[in-house]
Amino acid sequence: MVVPDNSNIVIFGASGDLTFRKLMPALYHLYASKQLPDCFFILGVSRSKYSDEQYRQKLVQSLGKGDRVDDSVLNQFIQHIYYVSIDTSSMPAYAELKSRLDALYTQYDTPHNTLFYLATPPSLFEVIPQCLAAHQLNNEAQGWKRIVLEKPIGYDLQSALDLDKSLHQFFDEQQIYRIDHYLGKETVQNLLVFRFANGMFEPLWTRNYIDYIEITGAEALGVEGRGGYYDGSGALRDMLQNHLLQVLAMMAMEPPVEINADSIRNEVAKVLKSLQPLSAEDVKNEVVLGQYTESEIQDELFLAYRNEAGVKADSRTETYIGMRLFINNWRWNGVPFYIRTGKRLPTRITEVVIHFHKTPHPVFGVDAPANKLVIRIQPDEGIVTNFVLKKPGAGFETKEVSMDFKYQYLESEEGEDKLLSAYERLLLDALNGDATLFARTDAVLSCWKFVQPILDYKHQSGSLYGYASGTWGPTQADELLAKDGRTWRRPCENLTNTNCTEL
Ligand code: NDP
Ligand code: BG6
Repeated sequence: MVVPDNSNIVIFGASGDLTFRKLMPALYHLYASKQLPDCFFILGVSRSKYSDEQYRQKLVQSLGKGDRVDDSVLNQFIQHIYYVSIDTSSMPAYAELKSRLDALYTQYDTPHNTLFYLATPPSLFEVIPQCLAAHQLNNEAQGWKRIVLEKPIGYDLQSALDLDKSLHQFFDEQQIYRIDHYLGKETVQNLLVFRFANGMFEPLWTRNYIDYIEITGAEALGVEGRGGYYDGSGALRDMLQNHLLQVLAMMAMEPPVEINADSIRNEVAKVLKSLQPLSAEDVKNEVVLGQYTESEIQDELFLAYRNEAGVKADSRTETYIGMRLFINNWRWNGVPFYIRTGKRLPTRITEVVIHFHKTPHPVFGVDAPANKLVIRIQPDEGIVTNFVLKKPGAGFETKEVSMDFKYQYLESEEGEDKLLSAYERLLLDALNGDATLFARTDAVLSCWKFVQPILDYKHQSGSLYGYASGTWGPTQADELLAKDGRTWRRPCENLTNTNCTEL
């Protein structure tokens, strides 16, 4: 890891959930491991009224509850933190932000290198850059200026195009960092290393050897306190359009020429542009939308989605999406990718499963199970593959066995935690000006273009199926695979266990 040059961070949305749960813990851990610059300040911005000291104390209370937090390091860390209360949708309010920033630049005697992090509702993504520019806060004369946008980047294809146009009036593409925190996950980046640093796997990574691929992003949690946001979003916008399509791109892309932002992002964009467009008929046949209903599991009552706080009583927002898609290129033509994501499924698991073709002929009398490779993104991060061997004894009876690698083996060997949080990695990269793990505008727009027919179907009140909380989604999603003679894998939290069903 490279320690960034002296630079500063302005967090819009400083009183919000993302800042307290993800950004500040990540910044604390970077500070504690001496990966932040020698000279830096963090300025929080939102409407809630706090003095610097009140805001610092709020952080101490919140960060102090976390793992691996040392009180004395925390006390040093918060000395770098300041707070200003303004309404960021109001242009004149930025005069106060500017004067606060100028004072801090002078106090710290630091270059004006500044990362503006927009951890706010997306409705502010157009106005904040516009107001920053109106006050010359995007001016790079005395130091670089970068802007980080949280997802969702747009609401549909048209709004994403509009946002893109608006952003580019005030910031160049190389100043814009679109966060998809899945790209910050060590195990997602490992998809590249696993594929392109092993001569053994890459030759098999084609339609010639692969029968089909499953990508799962399952969550056991419901919408928690985020019903208001989620009801306007749904699983398609919240998870599939960004996180899961990015995982798909990393798993399906061609080898990059080099490991740098342009090479990798060119290959990612090519895959996303090659997604086979969905016609209205395809959406009806290839996409299943679901919403969780009430259920009682081990004496605990799980509310129906429509009864969650902030959710409309007659909401038609999907909390599950399962679909089949194809990639139109030489490598993947005809290989089905089955993708599913949902809330209130039996367990939290993100994984990619590569199903290889069966042997062409059952030499040993019975059909041997096809080989598969499971790449577990989280939890119990690792890789497991199955194969068939001869059962000891007379004759040729066969048995399916497996081999696995788990990241925890590395940890126990080397006695340290190897998995950086996604936000630690991405914040550090943004400070260092490395955009490799950030989504580029053409990739984001390709994702919107691909999902737009599903959004249209939703707006025309397309079918939405119920599923009991704690199950693996609507039965219609099982039928989607059954039509092709297949079943979804039933993953267990422990990577090496098989066929877990309900909670
Ligand atoms: P919250 O509602 O918890 O926080 C929103 C923040 O924006 C608050 O600090 C709020 O502060 C501030 N804000 C809202 N309106 C204004 C305004 N007019 N002027 C100044 N500040 C304003 O949302 P989250 O933290 O959950 O989400 C923030 C962003 O991050 C969203 O885009 C979300 O989609 C994205 N995101 C969140 C994730 C999470 O885990 N929470 C995960 C991935 C993405 P105040 O009311 O004090 O002004
Ligand atoms: C966020 C979504 O982007 O990703 C949440 O808004 C979801 O709804 C979360 O829970 C999942 O992230 P992770 O890292 O827990 O898989």
